[in-house]
Amino acid sequence: MAEFYVKGGTKLQGTVKIDASKNAILPIIAGSILCTGKVIIDDCPLYTDVQKTCDILKKLGSKITYENGNLSLDNKDLKTKYVNNDLTKDIRASIFMIGPILARFHKVKISYPGGCQIGRRGIKVHLHAFQTLGVKIKKKKKFLKCKYNKTRLNEVYFDNVSVGATENLIMFTCLNDGVYKLHNCAKEPEVIDLVNFLIKMGAKIEGAGTKDITVYGVKKLSATEYRPIPDRIMAGTMLIAGAITGGKVKLENVIPKHLSSLINVLRKTGAKISVKKDTVEIDGDKNLISFGKVVARPYPSFPTDLQSQLTALATVLDGKSTVSDKIFSKRFNHVPELNKMGAKISIEKDTAYIEGVKTLYGTHVCAEDLRGGVALVLASLKAEGSSVISNVAFIDRGYYKIEEKLNMLGADIKRV
Ligand code: EPU
Repeated sequence: MAEFYVKGGTKLQGTVKIDASKNAILPIIAGSILCTGKVIIDDCPLYTDVQKTCDILKKLGSKITYENGNLSLDNKDLKTKYVNNDLTKDIRASIFMIGPILARFHKVKISYPGGCQIGRRGIKVHLHAFQTLGVKIKKKKKFLKCKYNKTRLNEVYFDNVSVGATENLIMFTCLNDGVYKLHNCAKEPEVIDLVNFLIKMGAKIEGAGTKDITVYGVKKLSATEYRPIPDRIMAGTMLIAGAITGGKVKLENVIPKHLSSLINVLRKTGAKISVKKDTVEIDGDKNLISFGKVVARPYPSFPTDLQSQLTALATVLDGKSTVSDKIFSKRFNHVPELNKMGAKISIEKDTAYIEGVKTLYGTHVCAEDLRGGVALVLASLKAEGSSVISNVAFIDRGYYKIEEKLNMLGADIKRV
């Protein structure tokens, strides 16, 4: 598995263009199943999670090409086939296949989803919602078998706010007879982006971005070309990279509103941030102080997907900070590794207590999940001396050639 060799100590300087959002692209690829015409996703980075999601579609008969950065999916000859464990074990997003496959073929057999080990990630909310709408589900040890005859109820209340379950049920209902009311929906920008994509294909959906979504089922969806939203988590990671190294970093191709909670936290540290229409610039070139307390919760609160990176930043801020994660309460794989670098962090339940230190020291650390892995990259950029980061494959799941982007800003990272 690839490793990163990082020489720390450089203040990052320059401009970086933010890629399209991984968590927007994955459900959009699944949503392409709903249409027999071609779907083109513009400027689609080949995150490994994108490649693995495409592998599932290929197995079902999708013809997929990649040209000039655009991903083209032709699902005309798709068939419903067993999506086995080899295809699902590495990605949580495999669960998104259920909604669109059921909508198009009325049955699906699929193994359980995998993904980063960041705490319990059940699928009950998804399954319960499908069952409410009349889907019969047989849960076997290795796979699920789902069959849909006709709608039992046309109203779903999600027991938990879930991004994936909201997306899955929107995809299931939008190509179905009837009007569906979904309540307690996730309000994340990626949900809105999926809905915008589906609407572009001809779907009729109201209320995305609020707790209550209404889906007016249609008979057919048509070919389309779509540009997903910029990745707010990559953008946030790059802002934190600017802050932790005391550098000046400008982001292009961002939707600043999606970064509001992070910008608010970073301003508390004393970092200067200027926001324009689609750019955000950070100047972290002064002694930054603790931001106090941050709690990761569903959007528009602070995102769990930036919790690890913020924890890395807190290790070198002047003073004590606390970071809690109410979404994935065990998402702290990065903490023992940061402590190896000289950080002072203790964990109690879902909260990291961080005492800022003057210096982090480069050493050998190991990525154990995507965001925790990139948090180690950020800490290594700040650390005195060199670091080696193993298991870079985790980072590649959701950052495309991140070392090249950071090196353009002056970092010294080699992929070995
Ligand atoms: N949950 C359940 N049962 C369910 C579904 C969710 O208990 O059936 C719980 C989860 O365990 C978690 C909470 O509900 O505690 C929220 O999970 P959610 O379903 O919203 O997460 P997800 O859809 O599986 C997406 C992103 C994650 C991101 C979360 C939260 C994708 C592919 N993944 O996951 O992204 O952390 O929403 O915003 O969109 C990442 O990119 O690093 C990542 C993990």
